[in-house]
Amino acid sequence: MSRLRRWFAKHGRDLPWRRTRDPYHVLVSELMLQQTQVSRVIDYYDRWLTRFPTLHHVAKARPSQVREAWEGLGYYARARNLHKLAKEVSPNGEPNHSLPADPAALRALPGIGAYTAGAVASFAYEKRAPLVDTNVARVLLRLYAPAHSPKSGVGQRVAWALAEAVLPRTGKASWTHNQAIMEIGALICTARVARCGECPLAKGCASGAVPVEPSHPRNRGKH
Ligand code: ADE
Repeated sequence: MSRLRRWFAKHGRDLPWRRTRDPYHVLVSELMLQQTQVSRVIDYYDRWLTRFPTLHHVAKARPSQVREAWEGLGYYARARNLHKLAKEVSPNGEPNHSLPADPAALRALPGIGAYTAGAVASFAYEKRAPLVDTNVARVLLRLYAPAHSPKSGVGQRVAWALAEAVLPRTGKASWTHNQAIMEIGALICTARVARCGECPLAKGCASGAVPVEPSHPRNRGKH
């Protein structure tokens, strides 16, 4: 999959959270990106980090200040959990790196599920950790196991097993690899269209030239 990493070096978007390895900054971006489009997150991410530059700034904030800074992003539970997490991890001014690097330890924190744990481990600490969200599951299953739906429990388990199996050898290469799979899901192999002609993974893709099942909004609910 080094072709994938080369593709990312050339076509990957230059996004603010891809320029940092600060675990708290990565966490904020990943929480925001869970339900919100990249273009909207960029503004909120910068504003949030100006207002709360460290985990400890969040820990010290009042609930009303946290709510206000999150206002407009929706799904406020994400911010409430982040506030709780900050108080847990940085009650006395501990630095941003006091967030754990191990996915299992991350998962024990408020609001951190399997995906976010993998994302912080890989994108902040450059650990060799798998991560699967909706986009990654779709890409990996189309590539290797198109009989499975990313919406099924089995499909999810298969996707996680695949994500682990295809990781490169090093944590540093895994950072690029994981970002690249997400980017393929965002730009090339989307829920609506598969731009196989531009895909660096088209050769050897199990979905091959077979058109992928449309999940166009018009067709939703009919499958
Ligand atoms: N969505 C979730 N994480 C992302 C990331 N690191 N880059 C782009 N989109 C994302």
